[in-house]
Amino acid sequence: MKVLVIYDSVFGNTEKIAQAIGNALMSQENVEILHVSDVKPEQLMGPNLIIVGSPTRGFRPTGAIKHFLKNILADGLKGVKVAAFDTRMSMEDVNSRILHFLVNIFGYAAKPIAEKLRKKAGELVIAPEGFIVKGTKGPLKEGELERAATWAKQALAAQQIA
Ligand SMILES: Cc1cc2nc3c(=O)[nH]c(=O)nc-3n(C[C@H](O)[C@H](O)[C@H](O)COP(=O)(O)O)c2cc1C
Repeated sequence: MKVLVIYDSVFGNTEKIAQAIGNALMSQENVEILHVSDVKPEQLMGPNLIIVGSPTRGFRPTGAIKHFLKNILADGLKGVKVAAFDTRMSMEDVNSRILHFLVNIFGYAAKPIAEKLRKKAGELVIAPEGFIVKGTKGPLKEGELERAATWAKQALAAQQIA
């Protein structure tokens, strides 16, 4: 089985999560981890499971991830299982009532990524997940790499049942 992990990352935290996800599955599966700018359209044909992740920037995925998702052909993910993740700040660390209010409305990157993957006919195998950074530039909160590995294994198990 082939797994493709696609990510964007500004400060390196989402890249670390993408690698933790890929490494968790590598012993069992054929896994490729690619920065979004290195993905060629033909590479989307072949993987059984595609996992896409982005930093949350302004409640949304990065421009590069949005562009990538937009350019996938309609039905381009037919027969492909998909999953989505993001990195984000914990609202416990954000001392702004306005920001809390906005986050409640607009959320984080993983959900819109998952929605777009489904729109392109991908079959979502696990709920979108967020991994926490302690500041804008990181580092990741303790335990997040391990949590990402567990999430990846859950996605793989769900993919195999589905
Ligand atoms: C311009 C900008 C906008 C951001 N917007 C959000 C946001 O809306 N919600 C959030 O939780 N974190 C936000 N963050 C924090 C990012 O999520 C954090 O920088 C990112 O997870 C780090 O991942 P990276 O190291 O892969 O770039 C923002 C950071 C920047 C610099």
